Amino acid sequence: MTEPPAETAIGAVDLHKTYKSPRGDVPAVRGIDLDVRPGEFFGLLGPNGAGKSTTIGMLTTLVVPTSGSARVCGFDVTRQSVEVKRRIGMVSQNNTLDTDLSAFENLEFRGRYFGMSGRDARRRADELLEMFNLTDRRGAEPMEMSGGQAKRLMICRALVHRPEVLFLDEPTAGLDPQTRVNLWEVLRELQKDGQTIVLTTHYMEEAEALCDRVAVVDHGRILASGTVEELKGSAGADTVLTVAYDGPVPDDVSGLRDRDGISKVELSDGQVRVFAHEPDGLLGELVALGSSAGVSVTDASQLRPSLETVFLTLTGREYRE
Ligand SMILES: Nc1ncnc2c1ncn2[C@@H]1O[C@H](COP(=O)(O)OP(=O)(O)OP(=O)(O)O)[C@@H](O)[C@H]1O
Ligand SMILES: [Mg+2]
Repeated sequence: MTEPPAETAIGAVDLHKTYKSPRGDVPAVRGIDLDVRPGEFFGLLGPNGAGKSTTIGMLTTLVVPTSGSARVCGFDVTRQSVEVKRRIGMVSQNNTLDTDLSAFENLEFRGRYFGMSGRDARRRADELLEMFNLTDRRGAEPMEMSGGQAKRLMICRALVHRPEVLFLDEPTAGLDPQTRVNLWEVLRELQKDGQTIVLTTHYMEEAEALCDRVAVVDHGRILASGTVEELKGSAGADTVLTVAYDGPVPDDVSGLRDRDGISKVELSDGQVRVFAHEPDGLLGELVALGSSAGVSVTDASQLRPSLETVFLTLTGREYRE
């Protein structure tokens, strides 16, 4: 089996995970390759159930791969899991703060767990509270904190031992838009200080806003990866125009397939979806073709090239959060 190269922050080769459940096998991850460089902000983007948490679980040694291999900071996630754990920080999807401890104590205890002296652990805790603007919540218990504050505290806790790689599983899920944007700022600052970050998200705009590179995941596989610009320049370079008629799609619409600047025309019951490099005038034309055939357009939408159109082009499905 090929080994991932050691000099990358994360290298995964053909990772698989199949969960055994009473109702049968669940193939959650079906052959994922990854290559994340030090200092990079890398995103796994995909809808619910795509396999994002399972992938992160394997990279953070919490989930044992069914096959394939991965190295994090040069260490094998299954054979050298202790070495890996020492070098990573993880912020999971759920709130896992200790509810019996104050914000400060949550951090202090984590420092002690990683072998710091009491003095060092307390100093580091206060330093992080300061960095993340939580000093005035120092004595608060997690239940008394807002969603955004709790999430920031979880990030602090993941950073106590100065990990080389920080993993964040859906860090802004459930937060209101303003809190989300604030958290984006926090994460950008961390990266600016050299922190390697891997996050999962099902928000396309989050991946676009933060990540140097993105892997689009669906049904346990990577559909495409690269910078957002590269992704848009490849599979999703098209504008996608969707038009619904109040009757059958006019026959002449299929003729658009042969035209320059149009890469795909998908027909379904009363609806047509056109993938076009040059969308100018297309809507008017679809309306006119409808009138000649005695049907009217009842709905129309146009998606400019974006991660959304990349997903649509690759899967044939609309991306739903
Ligand atoms: N412990 C488990 N046992 C059985 N099946 C599981 C387990 N954990 C996850 N799955 C299944 O594996 C698939 C991938 O799940 P996973 O949680 O990795 O996806 P995800 O991309 O993180 O989704 P979400 O956006 O909902 O968090 C899903 O079909 C899920 O139901
Ligand atoms: Mg998940």
